[in-house]
Amino acid sequence: MWKICANFIKMEKYNFDTVIDRRNTGAIKIEGLKERFGREDVCPMWIADMDFAICPEITAALNERLAHPVYGYSKASDGYWQAIIDWLDRRHHLSVTHEELSFIPGVVRGVAYAVNYFSSRGDKIIIQPPVYHPFKMVIEGNDRVALPNPLVLTELGYKMDLEHLERLMAEESPRMMILCNPHNPAGIQWDVETLRRVAALARKHNVVVVSDEIHADLMVFGNEHIPFVSVSEDAETVAVTLSAPSKTFNIPGLVSSWMLVKNPELRVPFYRWLSSNEFDGANFMATIGTEAAYRNGERWLGELLTYIEDNIKFVEEFMAQNLPMLKPMRPQASFLVWLDCRGLNLSQPQLVDLFVNKARLALNDGTMFGREGEGFMRLNVACPRVVLADALAYLAKAIND
Ligand SMILES: Cc1ncc(COP(=O)(O)O)c(C=O)c1O
Repeated sequence: MWKICANFIKMEKYNFDTVIDRRNTGAIKIEGLKERFGREDVCPMWIADMDFAICPEITAALNERLAHPVYGYSKASDGYWQAIIDWLDRRHHLSVTHEELSFIPGVVRGVAYAVNYFSSRGDKIIIQPPVYHPFKMVIEGNDRVALPNPLVLTELGYKMDLEHLERLMAEESPRMMILCNPHNPAGIQWDVETLRRVAALARKHNVVVVSDEIHADLMVFGNEHIPFVSVSEDAETVAVTLSAPSKTFNIPGLVSSWMLVKNPELRVPFYRWLSSNEFDGANFMATIGTEAAYRNGERWLGELLTYIEDNIKFVEEFMAQNLPMLKPMRPQASFLVWLDCRGLNLSQPQLVDLFVNKARLALNDGTMFGREGEGFMRLNVACPRVVLADALAYLAKAIND
């Protein structure tokens, strides 16, 4: 009897095994294949969204609103703000107030707003490659200069080069730093000492730290997210935090993100600038979807994270058995696996050719994240296991042939 009850309690409610046809939905992952990879007959395992159905509680909330016949100008409800506040408290032990938060239409746009507001043309902005490539694009597209503080790859994985960071801050007078926490592409959650050191250096040298925490809710294998702003008073002074329910709940198409700034000296003028330009205006699909996700999506998220962990383990086991020259790095957060392919001894064009034209797999080329990504590919494992199994079998065949 007890055993039956225990099984019943553990029973999964959501299904991540169904293969969903995403063609003709305007999905970049599919529609962008030809432009990015030169062909369409490839399995899409690149851009960071998931091939899973979203949690039905979000769909229900959106449907209810869509059924109302008037789609006029809309205002974020108190319930929306409270859902974010409760989420941060419950999931990340972070206490925030409504006034410290702002809506932003996308995390990259939030980075761009901060770059435009806190720096001027020609200013230097630190990034830590290999890192999410739009950081550099935003910096350079706004005529600022990207100042690399490359991560160091050790036997134990990546770490920050804090001595180099200190030199850059002392000698190059950067105005800002863009931190990725957890760090894409390798899924690294920075430890508290590292974050404290970054914060202390930034405060000393008057550097604003934009912390992109979009992958924070997707911690796997027992790791815990540490919000940058939470680590010290220095961090609270310099931090502009950006995050969203978009990666967590697979709703980037709703374009809903938020910003958190604790320090009023940064926040008050910046938020005034955001709202004068109406950069903080939310559409109702974004706020309703966000509120439903944060209030009712927790069980779905729990099951999703287990599925992702199992997919990561599946990749690790498959490669250990069949492709030992490939070394998948186990992420601490998210559904992206940074694949060390240096054991194949191929040039980057040969590596990309192997994946795209021989194995017919569309992964992100590691050098997209900076030249430090040479010899690597980024694999998105947020797909049904059967798709992942097929993809790995194609890869093994292409390599072994
Ligand atoms: C670190 C990081 N920041 C931001 C984004 C994109 O955020 P948004 O779609 O809200 O601009 C991604 C998507 O992959 C990401 O990995």
